[in-house]
Amino acid sequence: MVEHKADGVPRATLDYIDSEKASLSKTIEDVFVRFSSALKTAQIYAPNNLTFVNQNNLLFSLIQNILTSEGEALFQFRENTLFFNSVRVKFDFSSYHRFKFLAEGFRKKGIEKICFESGLTEDDLIEFVILFGGANGREGNSFEGFQEKMRAKGISNINLEKIHPYEMSARSGSGEIKQTACKVFFKGITHLKEVFERADQKKRIKIKTTRRLMQSMINLVGECESFMLGLTNLKNYDEYTLNHSINVSILALCFGRRLGLEKKELVDLGIGAFFHDIGKLEVPEEVLNKKGKLDENEWKIITQHPHHGAEKLASLKELSYLPVGALYIALEHHNWADLSGYPKYWKKKNVNFYSRIVKICDVFDAVTTKRVYRENAMSRHKALSIMLEKSGTEFDAVLLKVFANMIGVYPIGTLVALDSDELGVVVETNPEVAFMLRPKVKLITDKGKNKMDGEIIDLTEKDTETEKYKRTVVKILDPDEYDVNIAEYFIAQGQ
Ligand SMILES: [Fe+2]
Ligand SMILES: [Fe+2]
Repeated sequence: MVEHKADGVPRATLDYIDSEKASLSKTIEDVFVRFSSALKTAQIYAPNNLTFVNQNNLLFSLIQNILTSEGEALFQFRENTLFFNSVRVKFDFSSYHRFKFLAEGFRKKGIEKICFESGLTEDDLIEFVILFGGANGREGNSFEGFQEKMRAKGISNINLEKIHPYEMSARSGSGEIKQTACKVFFKGITHLKEVFERADQKKRIKIKTTRRLMQSMINLVGECESFMLGLTNLKNYDEYTLNHSINVSILALCFGRRLGLEKKELVDLGIGAFFHDIGKLEVPEEVLNKKGKLDENEWKIITQHPHHGAEKLASLKELSYLPVGALYIALEHHNWADLSGYPKYWKKKNVNFYSRIVKICDVFDAVTTKRVYRENAMSRHKALSIMLEKSGTEFDAVLLKVFANMIGVYPIGTLVALDSDELGVVVETNPEVAFMLRPKVKLITDKGKNKMDGEIIDLTEKDTETEKYKRTVVKILDPDEYDVNIAEYFIAQGQ
């Protein structure tokens, strides 16, 4: 008898799909490891060295197999993400150095795509590996210079495509998508408020609604990541914990996506981030919002909220629908990467991967928010630099690097002064490292500093005659000093 799952798909078919998926991700992992290993050996060994020859043999036969089965073998590096045959290459702690090494190679030569085509010979591949990974390849050649060298070596059946700096993705989304994003954002706050109330009264909560909300947010992050990040500039709408929780979920979803997590994993991460502070329900408001310094007893109450949070989630009637990761996140989001922080757990040896992600998003959102006890919220730029000082102790060093890259040098929502004497708000970061100082900016004043609803300009734009950039950021400004409400600029676009 054929066993069926609830959705009616035969079990055998699902097993087949699962095994297909597993073998595809194994192939991608293999080609990623082989390619970077071959390039690394090219840096160390001479072309006639046995190690170098072996590495190239392995890479060549793997590429041949892929070309036979899939018809193409295409590496693509886009928005700090590596794809192979259109599938995002995942990396973890152990493979991050390989990713970084390959990413640097693409960046330095201005390459977006490397396509190995059928007809490729082992000699073509060896010459290419030497050129790309060897001493010559380490110099920061231009794309054209590198292509010229390939031609001079007679390398064929390997095609390259250049990174297009001006073709920034439509990561800001259309007006309609922005409207949906705003609706989902506020719906999220209302839903969480209801969940908190019902959890407090020990009533059933609608976890299916939370799941659907996360799925919508994940789709929106895919469609308009920049705008979603922009919305997290909204602070203290309704109650702090509600607004903070939705901000942390958005940050975690954007971050998780950059880490290559799959949709299923993102839903789990998002739900966990959404509920991370549910334990604060147990903290009296006068402690939560105390203006002055907390006394020993009050601090003790605060440090118990992770424990209460996990307890609350574990006692929900809908526990079986909750991802296990949510319990870890509630329990561990104040634990440091070096295992300090609070609460202390007996013989604790590590902190869950999702908890490490949420820890970073949690601190980033908290310190950039004004509270009764924190009159001066940090700018996003400042928050990031302070957090980087605690890389490896409070925050996981590898994850923090990826997060810093996502937030950018001029984070979305930063108020900037331009050399044109205009002021603007950063609405989209440039994903290419070479252009990280050149985000997209919405102009909010004219040259005389008169407020206006200006256009969105791309700082990579050059004057066609002088070949010089039209505008450049000269300074980051404090929005309070200039009486600018950053969140308003994002909300207005979604109305
Ligand atoms: Fe917390
Ligand atoms: Fe928090």
